[in-house]
Amino acid sequence: MPAWDVALEATMPARSKLFFVDNAGNSFPAEQARLAELELAVFAETLQRLGITVARPAPLDHRRPFSTPNWKSPSGLYSMMPRDLLLVVGDTIIEAPMAWRARYFEIDAYRHLLFSYFQRGARWISAPRPQLRAEWYDDGFDHEEPHTTGRYVTGEFEPTFDAADFVRCGRDIFAQRSHVTNRSGIDWVTRHLGSDYTVHTLDIADRAPMHIDATFMPLAPGKILVNPSRAVSLPAALQAWDVRLAPPPAVPGDHTLYFSSPWISMNVLMLDQQRVVVEAGERPLIEMLEGWDFEVLPLPFRNVMRFGGCFHCVTADVRRRGTLESYL
Ligand code: GLY
Repeated sequence: MPAWDVALEATMPARSKLFFVDNAGNSFPAEQARLAELELAVFAETLQRLGITVARPAPLDHRRPFSTPNWKSPSGLYSMMPRDLLLVVGDTIIEAPMAWRARYFEIDAYRHLLFSYFQRGARWISAPRPQLRAEWYDDGFDHEEPHTTGRYVTGEFEPTFDAADFVRCGRDIFAQRSHVTNRSGIDWVTRHLGSDYTVHTLDIADRAPMHIDATFMPLAPGKILVNPSRAVSLPAALQAWDVRLAPPPAVPGDHTLYFSSPWISMNVLMLDQQRVVVEAGERPLIEMLEGWDFEVLPLPFRNVMRFGGCFHCVTADVRRRGTLESYL
């Protein structure tokens, strides 16, 4: 478990604070981790049965402390959410410069895969390594409306971003300014990708923004799922699309979610334009998607959800069939 600091405070449910403060450097409860690993294994086997190549991270001991000349961390976090670390766009794989110090070396669990993709032709790059200096975090961040006041916990001293603050839709990429992704980070991605892609920054009203994929989920050409509790102003190009509001999450109120809101229910994974993997307990969402002509694959994932992500977060698709198109 990472040390509690202002970057965690800005993005995590307030109820988690005491547990994190008391347990920095310890492991998460072993039984919860074991159950999550079982669900991940079933998910991986399911994908493989469907003909999808699944690669897993290498074991990495996140209990080791580490430091830079500017700060120390008593531990890392985990190797569970590659979506946060890796932005895959066409044949380019970008390592994200993340704003949480505990995640500074998390990428190491994936390095063997990245090198292997590089050997097979991927254009592999790491964004500029951030310094994450203490004075660059804003203790006075806005707890309610950072999108209105602009008081995010990260300033504009260097680019930082989590890859999960971007969601890809052919040659269009949607991004949000969040507590971990600053404007410089979005500018860095935009300039790096160049004129082949258009990066649209969405105006999203989220009290604690971190990762766009529980707020705005393109499902297929012409179909977008949006979080009804977070107003999203859509670019004009999407006005003709069928944009639907996700139903309220079904996860019980007393189910511990250390890192996220229950809206992690929306964090579904599209296998193609038809098939979607959804948490098995999310009956209202399953019914809504079936009524929208999707083929739903329900899988139990509530133990994984505790740790901050669902099917989209725990994957980073490096290769899909088809051609990269402009849908807008
Ligand atoms: N960070 C995603 C959520 O809590 O909804």
